[in-house]
Amino acid sequence: MTETVFSEPQVFRDIATLQQHLTEVRQEGRKVALVPTMGALHEGHLALVRKALKEAQEVVVTIFVNPKQFGPNEDLASYPRDEETDLKALGKLGKVTVFIPGVEEMYPGDFSTFVDEAQLSKGLCGVSRPQFFRGVLTIVGKLFNIVRPDIAIFGQKDAQQAAVIQKMVRDLHFGVEIITLPTVREEDGLAMSSRNQYLSKAQREEAQALSKSLFEAKEMVEQGVRSTDRVIAEVTHLLAQHRRVRLIYAQVIDTETLEPCREIVPGQSLLALAAWVDQVRLIDNIRL
Ligand code: PAF
Repeated sequence: MTETVFSEPQVFRDIATLQQHLTEVRQEGRKVALVPTMGALHEGHLALVRKALKEAQEVVVTIFVNPKQFGPNEDLASYPRDEETDLKALGKLGKVTVFIPGVEEMYPGDFSTFVDEAQLSKGLCGVSRPQFFRGVLTIVGKLFNIVRPDIAIFGQKDAQQAAVIQKMVRDLHFGVEIITLPTVREEDGLAMSSRNQYLSKAQREEAQALSKSLFEAKEMVEQGVRSTDRVIAEVTHLLAQHRRVRLIYAQVIDTETLEPCREIVPGQSLLALAAWVDQVRLIDNIRL
C-alpha cells in the first residue's frame, strides 16, 4: 500500500513576510505560480494546484474569503471555512506556500482603491451581483502585486471571472500569464463548488439538473442545431421541471468576448447559466 506523504505547507499571514520569502525565491531564479482561492478546497481547486506544481518551482496558494466580492445580502458570514482541512489537502499535493491573510491585512481601515472592468463584467453574473467583479478584480490585482507571479491559474467553472481577469491583465499590463483549467465535476455531473456544501440531499438532486441541461444542449449542437434560441428554450424547459430550481440567466456567448451569439459556433460558443437551487446560487457552463 502506498502511503500519502504529508508535508506541512509553509503558511504566511502577513504581506511583508511573504514578500521577503518570495524575494529569496526569485533570487534563486524560481518560477512562481499563484492559485487564488477562498478556501473550502475541493478537487477543482486541487487540480489547479497540481497544474501549478507542474508549471512552477514555487506555488503560492492564497486562502482569503474576500468580503469585497459579496453583496450585502449574500453569504459572506456563512461561507464555508476550514483552514485545517485545506492545509492537510494542500500538504498532500507537494511543497506549497500558503498565504492566509486576515481582512485587516488586505483591507486596512483607510482602504479606498478598487479595480473596475467596464465591459465584460457587466453582463451575466454582473447583472445580479453588481459588486462581484469589482471585488474579485481588486483582490486579484492586489494578490498579483503582492506575489508578482509568473503565472496564475483559475477554473473554467467561473468562465466570466477568468475572462474578466484576463482582460484586467491586458488592460493594466500585469504581465502575468493566465491559465484556465476545465471544470471538475462530481460523478453525477454537478460542477464542483465550495457552495455545494450548502445543499441538502434533496437540493443536491435538483442541482444535477443544471449540468444535465448543459449536456443536453451540447448534444443538440453535436446533432447540428445552431440556433441559440432553440438551445436556450430547451435548457429553460428542462430546468423549469425542477421546482427548487429558479434560473437567473442562461446565455450563449462567445468564449473570449462574452458577447451574446445568435448562432452557435461549435468550439467558440459557451453556454453559461446561473440558477438558485432554493437559497443556494450556483453557476455552470459548457463549451458547445
Ligand atoms: O474564484 C474564487 O474563489 C474567487 O473569486 C477568487 C478568484 C479567489 C477571488 O477572491
